[in-house]
Amino acid sequence: MPDLFSLKGKTILVSGATSGIGRQAAIDLSAAGAILVITGRDEVRLSKTLAELQGEGHIHFIADLLDFDKFTALAENMPILDGMVHAAGITNHLPAKFISATDISDVMRINYMAPVLLTAALLRKKKVAGKASIIFLSSITTKYPYYGGALYGSSKAAIEAYSRVLSIELAAKGIRSNCISPSFVHTPMVDDAGKMISNEVLEKFEKMMPLGFGEPSDVSHAILYLLSDASKWVTGSNMVLGGG
Ligand SMILES: NC(=O)c1ccc[n+]([C@@H]2O[C@H](COP(=O)([O-])OP(=O)(O)OC[C@H]3O[C@@H](n4cnc5c(N)ncnc54)[C@H](OP(=O)(O)O)[C@@H]3O)[C@@H](O)[C@H]2O)c1
Repeated sequence: MPDLFSLKGKTILVSGATSGIGRQAAIDLSAAGAILVITGRDEVRLSKTLAELQGEGHIHFIADLLDFDKFTALAENMPILDGMVHAAGITNHLPAKFISATDISDVMRINYMAPVLLTAALLRKKKVAGKASIIFLSSITTKYPYYGGALYGSSKAAIEAYSRVLSIELAAKGIRSNCISPSFVHTPMVDDAGKMISNEVLEKFEKMMPLGFGEPSDVSHAILYLLSDASKWVTGSNMVLGGG
């Protein structure tokens, strides 16, 4: 029986590969046989991820994903992709009454516009192979809101809606689109949240989750499944990883 979970021969783009979930995903996908195309803004941290990848032939692009006008050129330089993982993102914890137009723009530009416009550029340049798998990082907060999470949750709800439509539009080519919605995962994003949210509140959140906070590898293993042929009948879905 073939190894349905192997990514051997597949070329996968991972954004946000300098940190947290994107970084762990790149490392684990390379261990499963994939050739990686990794992107990030920080050259030193991106090179560190690159050095940890197994196998050969991996490519890295230094790119600020807010430079939308460079997406066509970026897509032109991409190999044909069998999968992509849009992990780059930011959070912003702000009570609703303090939200400004700049805050909305900051969060929506990287969490929604960047993955949507990059996907569009790659599709237009015919860089997405038939039967490819596209994964967007959403968040459990679209279903289980928290105080101050209006902007972040809205940006993730938007990407979930987009992904469902994409799954319909690309189904004829066998291309799949899915979201993964983790709860709290120990990454720099959550460490930074700790600067704005008290330890007491974070501990309260953790106690509400029977299996506690997750680790980046808990998410990267789900990413591996959705990229592999083992999930070939899964599209338009949103996999919740909530620790119970
Ligand atoms: N951690 C969690 O609890 C959790 C839960 C649910 C969903 N998520 C989602 O999972 C994804 C990854 O989160 P994480 O926890 O791994 O966060 P993280 O450790 O803070 O990593 C975020 C990544 O996004 C990149 N990024 C941010 N702005 C960018 C820009 N303008 N251009 C290019 N790259 C940019 C960062 O690159 P730089 O190194 O250049 O800053 C970094 O690689 C995010 O979409 C997040 O919303 C996380």
